[in-house]
Amino acid sequence: MANILIIYSTTDGQTLRICQRLQQVIEQQSHQVRLLPIQEWPETDLSTFDKIVIGASIRYGKHGPLVPEFVRRNEQLLNSKPNAFFSVNVVARKPEKSQPDTNPYLLKFLKQMSWKPKQLAVFAGKIDYPKYSFLDRLVIRFIMWMTKGPTKRDAVVEFTDWHQVEAFGRLIGNM
Ligand SMILES: Cc1cc2nc3c(=O)[nH]c(=O)nc-3n(C[C@H](O)[C@H](O)[C@H](O)COP(=O)(O)O)c2cc1C
Repeated sequence: MANILIIYSTTDGQTLRICQRLQQVIEQQSHQVRLLPIQEWPETDLSTFDKIVIGASIRYGKHGPLVPEFVRRNEQLLNSKPNAFFSVNVVARKPEKSQPDTNPYLLKFLKQMSWKPKQLAVFAGKIDYPKYSFLDRLVIRFIMWMTKGPTKRDAVVEFTDWHQVEAFGRLIGNM
């Protein structure tokens, strides 16, 4: 049985929901999983975990600033264990941008790091206009209009492929 840490960076909660599904799948394989918001990593002893997974969503082209900071500060430790990274964004709803080697945000993130995660995934996220501020809704609706996504003012659309999430969970359990 492995003790697995999943660190997540989320704004609206979709990355957390993905982490919770990963946790369910991995615990079905008799491993133990702890979910940790990335803000809490400085108070956590990372060395007690057998595997470390990081999941982060994209906002205006970037993962949260703590994500690259966490990776830079803990690269040696990450490399000493099985590890994985996944990105959540809505560009990934497009099949041609849905893979680790075709998703522009994941590619850019990896280019900026010397860390080479052992496993990678990209998951399409969620659009939830009623949740957004006036300005965010305006900007995201405009981007969606440009990229042929949902534009209705009150649209809530989940693009996440839960079968893909579950498959990644099994991969983490076995890595
Ligand atoms: C203000 C804002 C900016 C966003 N910027 C991008 C972006 O640049 N590229 C993209 O693919 N998705 C973008 N998204 C979509 C999010 O990545 C998507 O909603 C994701 O599910 C958010 O995950 P979270 O709930 O874990 O934060 C944006 C969403 C919001 C609300």
